[in-house]
Amino acid sequence: MDGRDLVRSVKIGSAGAAQRVRTVRAAWRRRRADAAGLPRRGAERARVPGPVREVEPGPGGGVVRFSRSELRITVAVNGAVFWGWDGAAPEPSYALAGRSPEPDPRAVLEPDKDGGWRVVAERVTVVVSRHGAIEVLTPGGVLLRRDLPPRWWEPVGGGTARWMQRSEVAADARFFGLGGRASGPRLRDGTYRLWNTDPGRPFGPGDDPLYVTMPVQLVVADAATHLVFHDTSWDGTVTLREGEEGAGSGHDREGTSELRMDGGPLRCWVMVGTPARVLLAWASLTGAPALPPAWALGHHHARWGFGGEQEVRRIVSGYLERDLPLDAVHLDIDHYDAHQVFTVDTERFPKLPQLAEDLLRDGIRLVSIVDPAVKAEPGNDVFDSGTAEDVFVRDASGQLVRGVAWPGEVAYPDFTHARVRQWWGRLYEERVSQGFSGFWHAVNEPTSFTAFGESTLPRSARHALEGRGGDHREAHNVYALCMAQAAYEALSGLTPQERPFVFSRSGWAGMQRYGGTWSGDVATGWPGLRASLSLILGLGLCGVPYSGPDVGGFDGSPSPELYLRWFQLGSYLPLFRTHASLRAGRREPWEFGAEVLEHARVALVERRRLLPYFVTLAHLARRTGAPYVRPLWWAAPEDRALRDCEDAFLLGDCLLVAPVLDPGTDRRAVQLPRGRWYDTATEQVHEGPGQVLVDSPLARVPVLARAGAVIPVRGEDGRQELEVWAPAHGRTGGGLIVQDVGDGRPEPEIERYLARWEDGRVVVEREGEDGPSESPHPVRIRGLGAS
Ligand code: NOJ
Repeated sequence: MDGRDLVRSVKIGSAGAAQRVRTVRAAWRRRRADAAGLPRRGAERARVPGPVREVEPGPGGGVVRFSRSELRITVAVNGAVFWGWDGAAPEPSYALAGRSPEPDPRAVLEPDKDGGWRVVAERVTVVVSRHGAIEVLTPGGVLLRRDLPPRWWEPVGGGTARWMQRSEVAADARFFGLGGRASGPRLRDGTYRLWNTDPGRPFGPGDDPLYVTMPVQLVVADAATHLVFHDTSWDGTVTLREGEEGAGSGHDREGTSELRMDGGPLRCWVMVGTPARVLLAWASLTGAPALPPAWALGHHHARWGFGGEQEVRRIVSGYLERDLPLDAVHLDIDHYDAHQVFTVDTERFPKLPQLAEDLLRDGIRLVSIVDPAVKAEPGNDVFDSGTAEDVFVRDASGQLVRGVAWPGEVAYPDFTHARVRQWWGRLYEERVSQGFSGFWHAVNEPTSFTAFGESTLPRSARHALEGRGGDHREAHNVYALCMAQAAYEALSGLTPQERPFVFSRSGWAGMQRYGGTWSGDVATGWPGLRASLSLILGLGLCGVPYSGPDVGGFDGSPSPELYLRWFQLGSYLPLFRTHASLRAGRREPWEFGAEVLEHARVALVERRRLLPYFVTLAHLARRTGAPYVRPLWWAAPEDRALRDCEDAFLLGDCLLVAPVLDPGTDRRAVQLPRGRWYDTATEQVHEGPGQVLVDSPLARVPVLARAGAVIPVRGEDGRQELEVWAPAHGRTGGGLIVQDVGDGRPEPEIERYLARWEDGRVVVEREGEDGPSESPHPVRIRGLGAS
């Protein structure tokens, strides 16, 4: 629970009543600020590009001038296509990792039929019609996307134009992405808003938008996959409608996507190819995903309301005494002094650094929540220092914008200013000296609790936007991204011997450069379990590979069965964390009876065994942009049954995980991609493509291994081993392994392995520049009985 509903439901003790009054006042203040500070929407004039007038070819494409707009197209060397209307250029951009990629000098605008123009590049052809429709085609000439001429609505007296872009895609295409959506991963027909939002209560599949929205669509069709990114951070909506095939009648209806934005440049990037190639291009454009420290790939236990050091020690002992793996404990806002960020309640936590040290002796890290809102009260050190350095967001008349958050009345740092990011970053020194190793950013949409209206800052609030100046309409969606940047960059300097660990509730395109995210306050219940998988898959397809849900759900008390199924799912997701709200029931694995404890133990032990595989996936994500957790269609997007399958996923190339998402399930159907798959529990062989029924007793969720897979695992003695699943006869297999070389940042080598049949046995060798050599790790071959 959070925000509005929480504020409403807070016991009306005096503190609760005072907070309630603040939320009413803040809501009125926001309304007044916007009435005074936002331009009024008066008469508007509609505009379309009009007919083409002239063309100026240039490197990678050129400029097409229409009578009422101008279109700049560039195909970059990595095959990504940029186009911008009305002179929009790729920069400045919060999404891009650095400068935009070099244009491909071989691609240039040339005349097309009917007075149109085209750019032919190696991986894509772009055709511009004489009225400004833009078609994206495969190199073989198959149409992937047609953007109709855009339309703007401009205020007659001048000011920010709204715009609309309607696009058509193939009848068989499926939409994914748009950030973290609870009702996917396949995005059904409907309107999705692009405005990072705290839903104000635990959410389920019907709630939209949520904390991370992104104008990033991944469109999967028979002909190819493409990613389209509209680089504008303003509020807007995307209305999707899947197409329909006329079953050979020739009457296919294409799918449509209609983007309506309140402002900002009309510019976009399109990448075409296989899913892997598209994500690689996306990561090269918006930045490599930060590599989490190895411990962050283990098991985390969090709770809002540990209450104090004793309880933290009790829970940790609970794990240790039962010999259950635990890698991190997260402290929520209740460890702060009166909810004030960068402070400690020394009554509850009298010796935090000592606690951190003691936990570390058992290999357990401490992670701190960090909220952006600073108690707006002289005497609060952070507020005083921020005031002295003029870091807080002001309104159009220059007054401090005051919102409401856990500490009461608060001010918000303007993270869209490099100077403010540096100031904020220095504050992490206090956290590091308290012994924290990782940082959990929350309520940074940013949220201001409110009695009515939107639970965020006034739209008229002013932001630096890197010196360009602007207001919250443009800064809102990138607020958390800039906060994550501040933390990541500061930590890189503060603890250079460790990889920063930052994960953030809100964010935007490019947030993976600084860390990951998590589900936020997902509602406890079977629909919430399903929603958590949807979010993680969708975010991965938007380039954010590291995330996970609140295992067990945020509120209430899950049944033992639901808790266990969530735990089992979580154990195969990048961020594996149990967390719950202040008044929620327990989440420790031993609180649900002996049977659940034993099965949860199996999940924890298996996670630890797979840790080297997770490390490999983290490194590969950083180098290639490929998420650890992928939809089943990842390697076979042409398999339409896989495109529609939302209840299973691939963990890297090797494993297929089929979690149990419904109560009372002891057997479930699993849609298999092509090839041979082994049930890892029974070694039974299944041949894909097709659907099979697999046992899913309470003890485990089905996990299948691809024939030929080479999986690095931790052996019983703690050393790395290779678990190799026999290739089908006459076939070969193999895999990549990246070993963690410590928490510093040296670049580890990628090890390549090949598995093949030779004289009736499976041979596994490491491939090197000098040819194959024996594996330096012990090898265990599985699935032999079946071959
Ligand atoms: C909201 C966060 O989403 C949740 O994880 C946290 O427990 C509460 N705020 C309290 O900090």
